[in-house]
Amino acid sequence: MSNGEQLNLFDQSEPRRSTPTNIQPELIPTSAKAPIPPGTYKTMETLAAHCQSCHRCELGESRTHAVVGRGHLQAPIMIIGEGPGQNEDETGLPFVGKAGQLLEKILDSVNLDSEQDVYICNIVKCRPPGNRVPATEEIAACKPYLLEQIRLVDPKIILLTGATAVKGLTGDKRGITKIRGTWMEWEGRLSMPILHPAYLLRNPSREQGKPKWLMWQDIQAVRAKLEEMRS
Ligand code: URA
Repeated sequence: MSNGEQLNLFDQSEPRRSTPTNIQPELIPTSAKAPIPPGTYKTMETLAAHCQSCHRCELGESRTHAVVGRGHLQAPIMIIGEGPGQNEDETGLPFVGKAGQLLEKILDSVNLDSEQDVYICNIVKCRPPGNRVPATEEIAACKPYLLEQIRLVDPKIILLTGATAVKGLTGDKRGITKIRGTWMEWEGRLSMPILHPAYLLRNPSREQGKPKWLMWQDIQAVRAKLEEMRS
């Protein structure tokens, strides 16, 4: 099938294709070269249904579930992680393992509700085997879905957890410890790189200057910025 033909399959003018229950797996673009233009998806539901049948990269071969996102579809804050792990692959939900439980505590510490204030997703939607870092081509193949998620949720603030999320969205290759906690602008949106919760699990000290203490500074800054934007 040519790229043009694959692209046409995203045409949602026919109701048959805009309802997830009617998604026909054989009609999902299998080539990462087939673009997914901005505005392709009218709803997250349709995007999620396409992801479940997606084979734009090899991660689609080994996944149990594509892990699209969770949280509020109009949340002011979007949190972007690296990619699903085993728990996420099994449940189809992002950040539900140990790192996810810590993320919940971090949000809770500043009264951010993960179902109201936040939408959580990942750079790649399918689990890289063995939890390896997703490859550049896998990130590129999945990126149109992420861009559509950002367009649909339209968050005020984007938090990028860890270096892969920063590089995957913005292309910035700087080390996460150098740039965490700094406000950056990406495509006119306010974003902040933060440490990955899995990194905090490996570095549990709360001492001043250590990762957990740094995260506490950063999440307070995020909370303060949200209040400032709301007032
Ligand atoms: N780590 C991530 O980056 N994303 C998840 O969904 C889970 C763990």
